[in-house]
Formats: sequence, C-alpha cells, structure tokens
Amino acid sequence: MSDALVPQAPSDRKSAGAYFTPEPVARTLVRWAVRHDGDTVLDPSCGDGRFISLHGNSTGIEREGASACSARRRAPDATVVEADFFTWVAENERRFDCAVGNPPFIRYQRFNGATRRAALACCRGHGVRFAALASSWAPFLVAAAGSLKPGGRMAFVVPAEIGHAPYARPLLDFLVGSFDLVRIVALREKMFPDLSEDCWLLFADGYGGATSSIELVRAERFSRFAAGRAAIRRVGVRECRANHGGRLRPYLLSDGSLDSYAHFSQKPSAPRLGDLGRVGIGYVSGANGFFHLRPSTAERLGIPREFLVPSVRGGRYLTDRPVTPDAVRRWLERDDPVLLLRIPPEARVPAVVRRYLDTDAAHRAREAFKCRSRTPWYSVPDVRKPDFFLTYMNGRTPALAENAAGCTCTNALLAFEFRENLSGRARTAARRTVLSGWASALGRLSCELEGHPLGGGLLKLEPGEARRVLLLPDDGIEPETRRALLDGVETMRRWRHIDAP
Ligand SMILES: C[S@@+](CC[C@H](N)C(=O)[O-])C[C@H]1O[C@@H](n2cnc3c(N)ncnc32)[C@H](O)[C@@H]1O
Repeated sequence: MSDALVPQAPSDRKSAGAYFTPEPVARTLVRWAVRHDGDTVLDPSCGDGRFISLHGNSTGIEREGASACSARRRAPDATVVEADFFTWVAENERRFDCAVGNPPFIRYQRFNGATRRAALACCRGHGVRFAALASSWAPFLVAAAGSLKPGGRMAFVVPAEIGHAPYARPLLDFLVGSFDLVRIVALREKMFPDLSEDCWLLFADGYGGATSSIELVRAERFSRFAAGRAAIRRVGVRECRANHGGRLRPYLLSDGSLDSYAHFSQKPSAPRLGDLGRVGIGYVSGANGFFHLRPSTAERLGIPREFLVPSVRGGRYLTDRPVTPDAVRRWLERDDPVLLLRIPPEARVPAVVRRYLDTDAAHRAREAFKCRSRTPWYSVPDVRKPDFFLTYMNGRTPALAENAAGCTCTNALLAFEFRENLSGRARTAARRTVLSGWASALGRLSCELEGHPLGGGLLKLEPGEARRVLLLPDDGIEPETRRALLDGVETMRRWRHIDAP
C-alpha cells in the first residue's frame, strides 16, 4: 500500500473502509477474472483506481470525490463514476463480464442511512436477507454479482469474517446458489498490517450456475499462485451446514484434526455446554461506578450487608481455579470496588441506602440510559449467582471458574447455570463433565471452532457460541485422537495470530 496514494486521514479511512489493495493482489485478481481483451470489468468501490487501471474496458464506482479524482488520473482509459454503488446499481441495467475489487469493510454501526437501505433492498432483490449486524462488504458482493452477465466472474478481497460471521452464511448460500465455482483463498498472514482484520480472497465463476461445494485454499501468505489450484479442499455445502453451522473456518484444520472433531460433534455422547444448562451474560448495572462499592465506602455509608453482593467484575478476577470465599476475602482486603449494590424492586429501602440514592453520584447515575429505562431505576436486573463464570474475550484459552463463593458477575463475563432439574448425582456428574471437559483437548478445540477471532489475537465466545462447546474429558479420548485435536488447537491459534507458547 502506498501512503502517497491514500487520500484520507486514518479515521476517515476507517469510516469509509478505504484500505487500498497491494498492487500484486489487484493484478492477480484482474488477471484471473479477465479472459478476453474485450471483457467489460466493474469495480464497485474503485478507490484510487488500482484495479480498473489494469484493464482498459473498465468501469469504477467510487463514493469519495478525492478518490474518484485519483482513479481518473490513474486509469484514464476507464470510466469512473462518482456515486454510491447501491444507488448506481438500482439505476443501471448494464451487465459486465467480470467484477473485481476490494469492497469497503464498514461495520454495521457506521454502515447506515440511505446507503444501507439501498444495499439491503438490492440484496432482497437477489433473494438475500442480511441480519442487522451485516457489515458493508457482504451486500457489495451480492450487488456486484447481480451486475454480471450470465457466465460472468468475480474476484474480490474479502475479510476473513467470511469464514465465521453469522451474516457470511446467507452470503455463501447466495454464492453457491449463483455460481458454478466458488473458491476462497484463506491467507494466514495479514495483507494489511495496520488493520486488525485478516483478509482472504474470493473467486467466483459461472454466474447463473450453482455448485454444491466451496473450494477452500489454505495459504500462509499471498502469492500469485494462491489463486491457482494448489492444495484445494472441497467443502461440501451440506456437510458444512450440518457439522459447522455453515462456517468455513473449521476447514482450516488438517484432515486428521477436522475428522476427529467431526467424529465428536456428531456423537451424542459428547454433550455441549448448552445441553447441561443456561449460558448468558452477567447483569448490566448501567452505571458501574455508582453500583459497585468498595468495602470501605459501604462501611462508611453504613449500607446493610443484605444489599451487597460480591461481584466478579471481569476476566482479571478469574483463573482456572474456583472463585472461593478466600479469593473474595482478598479482593475485599484490597478494598476493590466489587460489592454490587443490589436493591430488589419490592424491597423496603432503609434510610442509609435512601441517602446514597440521593447523592450527586446517584443523580448522575439515574440519567444513564439503562437506569432511565427501568423501574425503579436503582434495581439492577438479572443479578444471578451462577454455577460457573466464563471469560468471553480471550487470549490463549477461555477461562472457566466455578463459583464457590456465591458471587454474581457483570456483563464483562459469561455466566453458566446448571439446568434446574439437574440435582443429586446427575448434577455431580454434570459438574465433572464441565470441569474436565472444558480443559480437555476436545473442549479447547471446540472453543476455538465455535468461538471466533476478533483481531489482535483475541478469541471471542458469544453466549450462543459457548453453548455449542463440546465437552468430553481427555480420558474418554484415544491418545492419537487427542493429539489430532491438540494439533487442531495450535492450528487455529496460529490462524488467529497466537503462536506456540
Ligand atoms: C477498501 S477500499 C478499496 C479501494 C480499491 N478498490 C482498492 O482495493 O484499492 C473501499 C473503497 O470503497 C469506497 N466506498 C465506500 N462506500 C462506498 C459506496 N457506498 N459506494 C461506492 N464506493 C464506496 C471507499 O471510499 C473506498 O475508496
């Protein structure tokens, strides 16, 4: 990427999704897509014109005026239109032989207003419905495909989220239902070192056709040959949906690791965490500083003990060991703000607590959105004392810790509670399964595959993903299979840029 050619400041670049593609990557994508000199080429978000400069018969659409000017200079033979692509597409009947480029990766929070409405309407026209969290690049690909002639091709830089994001599934369904060939090249090394997002490549050929499999190429880094036929794994769409919820990421594993995982994920004797109980997030106080008291403050104010619950306020309070009364005592001795002020809605509020609810800090707290939207404003809802705490933003491994101290936890953590009807021996057995299954080779690989990378090496586990984690103690697994699962853990960590210890 040449900085001289990047027209915007870093923050503007981020909101416009303006990260321009390295020249060799653009060249490879154009070479693959263009088969004849006379082929017409569309770049739906052409930036400074580096794709369209590589082929004369090109049209580039670009929303930012400065970039469109650079594109005109760089690609004098091309047609450059300064417009929002989705508006342009709605007004243009023209069809192209190929589409190429690098669509903007604008997250749903910023991908809004008229552009988003036009994008989603265009996708609906192609039978694709994206959920609210869809980032901009996915509708760009659908709309670009819709601009192709029958038999047309497209080649794009895509975020690695195509391998796991929930909204990648309707996109992949659309691609396999619209092209004869869909090939995705997964690149382990970063294409854009200053972006937390990893990038992969998408090649699709034969618009108007359909296929029952996706070709996945795993490559360490971009090379011209990554687009070729080397080391292709054919991923059956049906099998991918049935075994991996339509996610491609598990197919980054070696055959041995993937087969071992599939064996257990299909086997009813390996339960998922969600089979044993409820996984949710901790409570949302709405004003953490106000609702969490230091022991010294609680004492000074004279808040009665029954209104205070020790709370685990984040991953820094967790290790793999249980949260015990001793651990809580240490937090209290350090005077950490870990005492949640919990006032049930129906409680008679004593005078000392009423005084605290009338301080300046309280008046500020009750203006917070969450406090304004509940009655009474000072009753924090969903304060539970779960059986286990779980970290959802993780470095190497998600931590799971038993709650042996009657604590509650904030929404910085996940909380797990056994099913209510589990008691006696069944509950003891379930507890053993959770403890030994979580730390097992299968449990760890399952966290990697059911969770998703967040950039910067982080692995995130949403509640729905944690529910799907498979639990089987190591002593129930053959040593060779265990090795294959542990290899899988290392592979997935390398792909999220956490290298061996
Ligand atoms: C990731 S950059 C890629 C530019 C170029 N294709 C390349 O790879 O070097 C995405 C470009 O899309 C443009 N863009 C963002 N939203 C757009 C929209 N709705 N319509 C057209 N262009 C858009 C941005 O201004 C930015 O130049």
